Amino acid sequence: MSFKSVGVVKYKNALNIFAKRQSSWWSNVAMGPPDAILGVTEAYKKDTNPKKINLGVGAYRDDNGKSYVLPSILEAEERLRAKKLDKEYLPISGLADFCKLSIQLALGDNSEHIAGGLNATVQGLSGTGSLRIGAAFLSSFFPGPKTVYLPTPTWGNHIPIFKHSGLDVKHYKFFDANTCGLDFKGALDDISKMPEKSIILLHACAHNPTGVDPNFEQWKELSALIKKKNIFPYFDMAYQGFASGDVDKDAQAVRHFVKEGHCIALAQSFAKNMGLYGERAGTLSIITDDKDEAAKIMSQIKILIRPMYSNPPLHGARLVAEVLSDKQLRKQWLGEVKGMADRIISVRKKLYDNLKKEGSSLNWQHIIDQIGMFCFTGMKPDQVARIMKDFSVFLTKDGRISMAGVTSKNVEHLAHAMHQVTK
Ligand code: LMR
Repeated sequence: MSFKSVGVVKYKNALNIFAKRQSSWWSNVAMGPPDAILGVTEAYKKDTNPKKINLGVGAYRDDNGKSYVLPSILEAEERLRAKKLDKEYLPISGLADFCKLSIQLALGDNSEHIAGGLNATVQGLSGTGSLRIGAAFLSSFFPGPKTVYLPTPTWGNHIPIFKHSGLDVKHYKFFDANTCGLDFKGALDDISKMPEKSIILLHACAHNPTGVDPNFEQWKELSALIKKKNIFPYFDMAYQGFASGDVDKDAQAVRHFVKEGHCIALAQSFAKNMGLYGERAGTLSIITDDKDEAAKIMSQIKILIRPMYSNPPLHGARLVAEVLSDKQLRKQWLGEVKGMADRIISVRKKLYDNLKKEGSSLNWQHIIDQIGMFCFTGMKPDQVARIMKDFSVFLTKDGRISMAGVTSKNVEHLAHAMHQVTK
């Protein structure tokens, strides 16, 4: 074929593609923005600076910056392999043992609610999927105005999770930007103004993104006010054990609310405290005060789940059940959770000390005071943009850093970069 005819063919092909394009079903689809949290990892991967640090997504790293598979999980995997289990479908509501052990971990071994069958607990797709099922249930059956109030700020995914399930989303004050601490008065004021039978979303511990939790006395006040206002509490507990290193202490808010007679919804995740990020192991529980009601709720949640994904995945739930049901493995796991929480607490102090060493005159006390996986640094969007561009430190635009990505090896570079962009 001559050069000329090759050119003609190419031209015709291009016209063809263009003609096909014009008749596309999807010409109305605009390019969406990258995810506010997971998109940070994509940007990090593209950076070629050997000093780069990813403090975007909340995923635990060891002190060498490596992802960490808990030894208790490795042991559970060995034990499961030896059992040569089948790969049949789980029931719609998930692995029964896993569900039971999960809600026991939240409410405590001696929970009267569990003993009395007052919980409807199903396995969900980690924290997000469990929250989403709970939101779908509320959207279908909640007898109030179907408005959920989220703290300001909150985990970025909360807003679309609740909107997507048809609930109206509003906000209440939570964080004080001046002190980088809790705006307790603001929260109480806003809750007082909520209409009766609203829904309130509460982070059970290790608030994401701020790392700011009410103390126990403040939780008691919140519980009393929420009860008085007849508001329905929906707890998101994605970090049990990760805040203080003690799973019972981190569950104290949830347990107090239940003890005080609240009927609650509770989403749990084992992504962080068992390092099972990709296994998607979590549960949703609705706690009631009537056994028949719990059974009816369970039946309706199953009807909601079936057309969404039929039934949940096996492996992660089996791992959790193996760890929680075996006395010795459970003890080992509790030690490992504490180890992760303690490393984060120690690296907070290192970051604080290094900022001082850099000569920063700003008050960074909140780095030490905040708790859990995240630190809400107070860095402004322009400072965040600069620290990413000039120092290859990657974080979310709101100034949140995942403390789990800070190590004794990168903390000096991080402190230097933070000082440079904030001085
Ligand atoms: C986070 O906030 O970084 C984690 O909860 C991971 C996620 O899915 O956003």
